[in-house]
Amino acid sequence: FSTKDFGDTSAGPLYLQLHRRIVEAIASGRLKPGDHLPPEREMAAQTGLSRVTVRKGIEALVASGRLVQRRGSGTFVAHRVEKLEQALSLLTSFTEDMARRGKEVHSQWLSRGLYTPAPEEVMALGLGTSDQVTRLERVRSSDGVPLAIERASLSARVLPDPDIIDSSLYAALEKLGKRPVRAVQRISATNLTPKDADLLSVVPGVAGLKIERVSYLDNGQVVEFTRSIYRGDAYDFAVELKLAP
Ligand code: GLP
Repeated sequence: FSTKDFGDTSAGPLYLQLHRRIVEAIASGRLKPGDHLPPEREMAAQTGLSRVTVRKGIEALVASGRLVQRRGSGTFVAHRVEKLEQALSLLTSFTEDMARRGKEVHSQWLSRGLYTPAPEEVMALGLGTSDQVTRLERVRSSDGVPLAIERASLSARVLPDPDIIDSSLYAALEKLGKRPVRAVQRISATNLTPKDADLLSVVPGVAGLKIERVSYLDNGQVVEFTRSIYRGDAYDFAVELKLAP
């Protein structure tokens, strides 16, 4: 942007002119998802607008979800997502879901290791007093767009070595002969915490989906207890209903 882009008072308030220019730049592809915007002070110098006007324009774009602000690292162009329709009755993994759509999966590891279980893990996994738990914490992306944060816990007896997972937990379980065949999944609404919003490149406080899955082997043994936070704007869950008996 340059100073000659602004100043025509008949074109409406200056912050809205800046807003419009940025929206146009995103629509035309001049600004791409993930691009870093210059700091407020630099944008003010470039455009000849005051810092207050620049801030107001940016705030409006953040509020509408076109830009994201991450504490300490600045302002970025948001990743817009197409809604993914997901059947609720099939037990599939994230990797399988994305492969079916022809999308590439990327997983960013936040942590993995063996831990002393928390009470909710003991309950969900039916652990004994001396059992350890394997925890896997990942940000899951599809074609470069972060969609979910997954925090999986498994009994260390089921998965003793977290490092054997390449990119898919279910593929690793399959190799161990422990691929789950049944699961109970619960979905509820949540507002993203600043930390989770940062990881998903969205604004803190926006709607997210909390999805909990407990999966089982054929013999009833629990395999995983996974708590995931999905971007609320990315999914559309579909389930077939039958007439109640
Ligand atoms: C889904 C489920 C998780 C499961 C994961 C495995 O996302 N919500 O409960 O752990 O799939 O995915 P992958 O095999 O790609 O690691």
